[in-house]
Amino acid sequence: SWAEVSDLGAEAAAAGRAVLVRGFAQEIRSLGKMMAFVVLRQGMSSVQCVLAAGADGAGVSKQMVAFAKSLTKESTVEVEGVVAFPKEPLVSTTQQVEIHVRKIHCINRVTTTLPFNLEDAARSDAESENSGGKQSPHVGLDTRLNNRALDLRTRTNQAIQRIRHEVKMKFKEFLSSKGFYEIDTPKLIGGSSEGGADVFDLVYHGQPACLAQSPQLHKQMAIIGGCRRVFVVGPVFRAETSRTHRHLCEFTGLDVEMEIMEHYFEVCDLIDGLFVSIFKHLTEKCKYELGIINSQYPFEPLKYLDQTLRLTYEEGIQMLKEAGTEMDPMGDLNTEAERKLGRLVKEKYGTDFFILHRYPSAVRPFYTMPCYDNPAYSNSFDVFLRGEEIISGAQRIHIPGMLAKRAQECGVDASTTMSAYMESLSFGAPLHGGFGAGLERVVMLFCGLGNVRMVSMFPRDSRRISP
Ligand code: 4AD
Repeated sequence: SWAEVSDLGAEAAAAGRAVLVRGFAQEIRSLGKMMAFVVLRQGMSSVQCVLAAGADGAGVSKQMVAFAKSLTKESTVEVEGVVAFPKEPLVSTTQQVEIHVRKIHCINRVTTTLPFNLEDAARSDAESENSGGKQSPHVGLDTRLNNRALDLRTRTNQAIQRIRHEVKMKFKEFLSSKGFYEIDTPKLIGGSSEGGADVFDLVYHGQPACLAQSPQLHKQMAIIGGCRRVFVVGPVFRAETSRTHRHLCEFTGLDVEMEIMEHYFEVCDLIDGLFVSIFKHLTEKCKYELGIINSQYPFEPLKYLDQTLRLTYEEGIQMLKEAGTEMDPMGDLNTEAERKLGRLVKEKYGTDFFILHRYPSAVRPFYTMPCYDNPAYSNSFDVFLRGEEIISGAQRIHIPGMLAKRAQECGVDASTTMSAYMESLSFGAPLHGGFGAGLERVVMLFCGLGNVRMVSMFPRDSRRISP
């Protein structure tokens, strides 16, 4: 019967289980005319299949051995055979048993020259450099992404995609257990939701419209609509023109919006419990996947505290100043300053994960609630992982006049969706707040990967809309 390669172990070998397996031909080797070995890869697992032709007519035919030898790498192959213990320990496969093949069948043969060798894509960067670019030419990220359907076959990419899935599932599970429910907000909207120019404009039945830059306005309207605690997991579009390691034009937003009783710290408390539970889940339940990623792209395990550190923006600026970096106390932090602060916080507090709050109002979106004691600051925060922002959040303005004034000061175009949102506050809005996290960034930084494109299955940036 059909078997999963990952299930093939000592038990199946001891029982001499007869199996049918399909996979990609990762490696094809031969030993004279009488023997061939085909390593089949399936997801993150691989198994050695042995074809042996006996002189006395035992085993498979010589023709079948010849056929196996003629297979091309990455072809889709099916084998029928019996699970057995190997004579020698296996080093190049994940499974420590082999399949003694009775029949082999090629479902889809690779007949072209593959754009790159998958083994090269699966090699650590350090190894590729050591080879001097001869035996294992380093496969550039662009080449890999251009041929993503092939690139995804590496165990590391399979592991990254699974980690991404786990973060998403845990996010939903944790929030559901706290009384939140998932809503979907429109991705076709009448105008910018965050302010700023990074929107993809489009024409919607003759009207100007755009792709949603965030679920911001609609998740807030859900709270005004009495939904109390909601989350949104879905695509977010930003017409980013600069190409950096952490900006995509389409990413998956993990958004939360909730009624708050008194203080925006209620949102920070939620983030604390939520992200610590995600980190714990990954560390405890995804050791296998993390091990695979780590062996290709080595990273230090993430350090975090059970009670997430909270620093005010002013404290952050002060720490930077004491370390020789002068920043405008009312301006925003640039990437370099954020990274430096991340290092300083790690040295002083021993954590890669912290919340920086009470940002200057001037650097936050118009809908952010100013601090009651000093409106030059706001009830807002960013959350950092290994020195890079993964979340931004805040208490929102729930008072109509105040919102209208801030929108005007910030030069926000109050058309269609925006005007409906602003008017909705006049229906009586409760105190509320929330946050937005970028899924690809969370995974990139948790796994210490250098580029958010490695986490997005089919990344979009200013130069890439294919495949
Ligand atoms: O900081 P941003 O723009 O905040 C908002 O969208 C607010 N509506 C959130 C809120 O509820 N107040 O985006 C939130 C997060 C960032 O922290 C980052 O992780 C991610 O989304 N992000 C991106 N990820 C990949 N590529 C991009 N171009 C991103 N822009 C933001």
